[in-house]
Amino acid sequence: MRVVDIIIKKKQGGILTKEEIHFIIDGYVKGIIPDYQVSALLMAICFNGLNNEEQTNLTMEMLNSGEKIDLSTIDGICVDKHSTGGVGDKTTLVVAPVVAACGLKIAKMSGRGLGHTGGTLDKLESIPGFTISVEPEKFFKQVREIGIAVVGQTANITPADKKLYALRDVTGTVESVGLIASSIMSKKLASGAHSILLDVKVGDGAFMKNINDARILAKAMVSIGEACGRKTVAMLTDMDQPLGEAVGNSLEVIEAIETLKGRGTPDFQKLCHEISAEMLLMTGTANDKEEAMQLVEEKIQNGEALEKFRQMISYQHGNPEVINNYDLFGKANKVIEVRSDKDGYVDKIKTLQVGNVAMLLGAGRATKDEKIDPVVGLEIKVKVGSKVSKNDLLAKIYSNGKNEEEAIRKLKDAFIVSDEFVEEQNIILDIITKA
Ligand code: URA
Repeated sequence: MRVVDIIIKKKQGGILTKEEIHFIIDGYVKGIIPDYQVSALLMAICFNGLNNEEQTNLTMEMLNSGEKIDLSTIDGICVDKHSTGGVGDKTTLVVAPVVAACGLKIAKMSGRGLGHTGGTLDKLESIPGFTISVEPEKFFKQVREIGIAVVGQTANITPADKKLYALRDVTGTVESVGLIASSIMSKKLASGAHSILLDVKVGDGAFMKNINDARILAKAMVSIGEACGRKTVAMLTDMDQPLGEAVGNSLEVIEAIETLKGRGTPDFQKLCHEISAEMLLMTGTANDKEEAMQLVEEKIQNGEALEKFRQMISYQHGNPEVINNYDLFGKANKVIEVRSDKDGYVDKIKTLQVGNVAMLLGAGRATKDEKIDPVVGLEIKVKVGSKVSKNDLLAKIYSNGKNEEEAIRKLKDAFIVSDEFVEEQNIILDIITKA
């Protein structure tokens, strides 16, 4: 086999065989095939796509390039949840304790934030003392004992994806449905869960800017999951405005705790309840949607979901007192209010820009090594469709001084208020259960 023939085949719209995909991935990981040839192939894939079989074969090759987490020693159904990333997306912090309180096992490896999207690990690390580095044996023990652990990657999983993703990042080849689907699914499959819930974000603050592209990606991932014998469901959810109120690490953890106490903002609470219910349904923990929703609400009302979160904090060496005393998170030096300069209806909140403002303040990182300030961020006080009067509060900025003037200016500019009535947006756009 010659690499150049495989590149030409894909350039001409051909379908790559399992053997050809193996040859490329194996050779690339071993350093035999150079970056420039793989770049050319990735670009050909961007233009001509991958069919379902190619996507599954590519996923399997990346999955088999590294270690796989074996969850077979854990009794019960192991579930995983993955979000394609958004602004203010702290859903895992609520959904994981809720489904654990319902008896499912969450052995989750999460990621850090990069760019305008926040990462679950950074949020959890804003809890004083909390560690995301847990030895494999302790990780399994924790899941066996309390049913929930959210940690950083403990094993060398999918090294092929790591190498390919880094190359895609610098060769303009990230945006290909087949490449994104196999990249995400190889990592999810390697994490070992029996059932996988994918939250595919759609809109200005997401990877997928429109629902058609999001649906194609969701179907591709469900197809790969099913082909690999895992129950996989994808939900398409709105990211055309920040999720809930808080954007920024400790602020988001506080909002998640409030939601676990039954006091969440309506859009975020709805999303958390719907995702949790879907996870109960797909695992057969509930027989129908109504029963699933009731179970979720019960576990929040009776405090069992919050108790799971408290247990996870304790096991991972955080201070569980934060649940009752938010001052323990620490505070930003300054709170700056952004107010509406006219009467009307909120027509648009530029979500990507809001995410970038949080990053400017220090809540996120533009490069892997940048340090995060856990207490800075934003509270967005209105939603698309909200009626506002001149001088009404639109948002609060929690600042420690970094890029403050620019942040204020850009946040003001992120709100478009119109004279016309604007409909509120739905948070759940679609649920994909079949490829
Ligand atoms: N997230 C991933 O893990 N991989 C992609 O290719 C895109 C987003």
